[in-house]
Parts: sequence; structure tokens; C-alpha cells
Amino acid sequence: MQHDFLKNYKHKTKESRRLYSRAVKVFPGGVSHNIRYFEPYPFFVSGAKGKQLSDVDGNKYTDYWMGHWALILGHSPKVVVNALAEQAKNGILYGTVNGVSVELAETIKKLMPRAEMMRFSSTGSEATMYAIRLARARTGRRIVAKAIGGWHGFNTALMQTVNYPFEEEEGLGLVQDEGQFVESIPFNNLDASLKVLETVKDDLACIIIEPVLGGAGCVPPIDGYLQGLEEFAKKNGSLFILDEIVTGFRLSLHGAASIYGLEPDLFTLGKIAGGGMPIGILCGDKDIMSLADPVARADKESLCAIGGGTFSANPMTMTAGLLTLNFLKENKQQVYSKIDRLGRMARKGLTKLFAESGIPCQVTGEGSMFLTHFSKNVVMDATDIANSNRELLKAYHLALMANHGIFFLPTKMAALSFAHEEGDIKKLLEATKKIIIDSKLFKRFA
Ligand SMILES: Cc1ncc(COP(=O)(O)O)c(C=O)c1O
Repeated sequence: MQHDFLKNYKHKTKESRRLYSRAVKVFPGGVSHNIRYFEPYPFFVSGAKGKQLSDVDGNKYTDYWMGHWALILGHSPKVVVNALAEQAKNGILYGTVNGVSVELAETIKKLMPRAEMMRFSSTGSEATMYAIRLARARTGRRIVAKAIGGWHGFNTALMQTVNYPFEEEEGLGLVQDEGQFVESIPFNNLDASLKVLETVKDDLACIIIEPVLGGAGCVPPIDGYLQGLEEFAKKNGSLFILDEIVTGFRLSLHGAASIYGLEPDLFTLGKIAGGGMPIGILCGDKDIMSLADPVARADKESLCAIGGGTFSANPMTMTAGLLTLNFLKENKQQVYSKIDRLGRMARKGLTKLFAESGIPCQVTGEGSMFLTHFSKNVVMDATDIANSNRELLKAYHLALMANHGIFFLPTKMAALSFAHEEGDIKKLLEATKKIIIDSKLFKRFA
């Protein structure tokens, strides 16, 4: 890339470049999460408030990444920050049980009654790992089905068919044999998925699926797809597990399950549920969750041992999560109608803009989530996304960042927060228009 915006980015982010040159000496690739790296180097954040990120060079960005989509109320909402300040004075980590965790669990159960019982962990990756362990324990079967392109965190068992080309190994250090217990199905193609599931049905412990493919590129489900998978799982005595780590409390207060009419046996939550602090939650049917009851199942053979860990249910996370959910409950109408409206406005506006400019493009999304794909084909699954022009998307996102102070983590889905306003979407549309007109970026693709 040698576009003007790249030059501009480098010019504006000199201190970040210096920090990055130090970071590569202490972190592989200079980052602590692979997706946080982008070309030429990421800007280093010095602060965040509301919808805005500030970097160490004094630049400001309207944030569309919002902490890996976790920050539905924006950065540092007062209601959470004040409660955390109080809690910090009263202890950061107790390392034992506390009342606020019970309150948070009861709140979640009221909002999502299928969360009859739950277990808190510190990351979503742990929650999905425990979900499939519990499914195997319950069914006595071994195989886990997941979607091609489905992302459930870095847990080893689900590190299969995540990145294109999907049929290849996900990298070094993963034992090949592990893959034999994972079967991958094409998202949004029910017939083909059922055909695959049929071949492994006797040993199929569970199907685990994101209601909307998130990490793979923001693909909503077509009518009947998720419902068809659930029906198959239930008939087959396999568990149906919904990974709501992104969608839970984002698409609605009651989860994507309520929107799509699903009744998962188990489901996972994370992100928003921690109010900006680290969290993962495994929730579900009481009978199944009881397999993890260390009191009733004191002998090792009858217990399915799942975490927690050192930081699970810590009072800071529990407080931030509780205050966030309480705010969402009390302001349900304002929050969801606003962020969904802004999401629609972004999808519609961008679609119109690119169409008018003759640039083949599809803007996918649901509720407050959206992502642009430069593709001549309809985008229905992770393969379609991988085949779209990702280099162009990367460049478009960098141009927004460098020239207009608008931050999308390059190629990744956007998630709006309650702190965003209509004016932000207007600015995004104006900036996009300017990039289309001024830069040569889209010339060859149009
Ligand atoms: C659907 C889904 N499941 C699981 C995870 C993993 O969560 P964490 O990053 O907290 O481990 C993610 C993270 O983005 C996710 O999007």
C-alpha cells in the first residue's frame, strides 16, 4: 500500500510507531491478541471516553470497535465507573464467594430464563470450552459440530475451520487428532449442514453455533437455519449450544435466542455481561449444569469438572456487569431502539452510497452490528466473506482512520453503543463519500 492516507497515518502516529517498535521486542507481533495488529502498526490508546478513543499522539477517533464489541454503553460510562471506584476501595479480588455474583446471576436468569444455572469464568474462550466438555459429559459422545468460520475463542477444541482456507489446519501446535472430534458445517446452508451432521450423528455430543457469525464477518442467519439445527440436535439427543458471547444483551436484553425463537440446552455469554471487565459465562439447563456440581458429585467419576479460575466472579467484574445490565433493563427502550436505529442507518446509508458509486458491495448486519463487504456476490457465509475483497476493506478502514478519525478495527465488524449519535453515522457516510471521490482506492473495483 502506498496511498496518501497511509502516509498521513504514519505522519500522525509517530509516538505510536515508537511504542510499537518497543512492543515487538516484548510481545510476539507487538500485540497481546492477534487481531489487534493491523498495517502498518496499530495506534496506541492513551484514553477512552464515551464513543471516543484517544491515542498517544493526541489523535481522537470515533470508535466502532468498542472493546471487541463489549461496550454497549460506550467507554467508561459513569454508572459503571463510579461503582467500580467504590468497589475497588472495598476489595478488588476476594478469591472467594460474594453476594454481587449472586445478584448478577439472578439478574441474568430473570432476563434469560433458560439460564437456570450458570458458571462464571474470566473469558469467553473458557465458557465455550466448558460448554463442550459438559455436552460430552452429558451425552457420553465425543463429536462437536461447529460452523465453518465460527469463532468461539482460542480454546483448543474449537480451533478448527476458523480462518480461510478452512480445510487447512489453524496453525502449529494443534494436535491433528484433535480435529477428528470436530465436524464443520456450512453456515446458512441447512441441507448441507444436516447431511454432514447425519454422518456423525451417533457420536454427536453437540452443535455449538453463533446466532450471527461475528468474527467471520457479521453474517446473520437466514430463516430456518438455526431452528433446523436445533431440531436436529434435539431429535438426535445432542445438545444445542448457542454462543451468545457477542449477541447476548446486544441484539436484545433477552438474547438472540428470543429473537430467533430458539431454546438452547446451553448457551454462553461474555463481553457486555461483564460491563467492560473480563468475563465468560456458561449458562443453561439445570440438569445439565448439575453435572458440574462439586458438592453433590463429590467423587471424581461423576463430576464434570469445569472452571472458573483465579479471577472468576471477582467483585469488580460482577459489579460492572450488574450495573450495566441494570442500566440496560431500566433504559431498555431508549438503548435498543437507538443503537438498532443507528445500525439500520449505517447499513442503509453505506449500501446506498456504494451502489450510487457503482461499487459492488453488501453491508451485512443485525441490530447495532454491521460490516461492509466488497463483493459482487451475495454474502451468506464465511467463504463468501473470505472471497470478498478484504484488501480493499482493509484500505477503506485505514483511510477512515487516517483521514477522518473513524476507527474500525480493519476488516472487523462494527458494534454501536448508546454513546453514538446520528451525527456519527452522518460523519461516517460523509467520510466514506469523500474516500470514494478523492482516493483511487475504489477505481479499479467499481
Ligand atoms: C462468538 C464468540 N465466542 C467466544 C469468544 C471468545 O471470547 P474471549 O475473547 O472473551 O475469550 C468470542 C470473542 O470475540 C466470540 O466472538
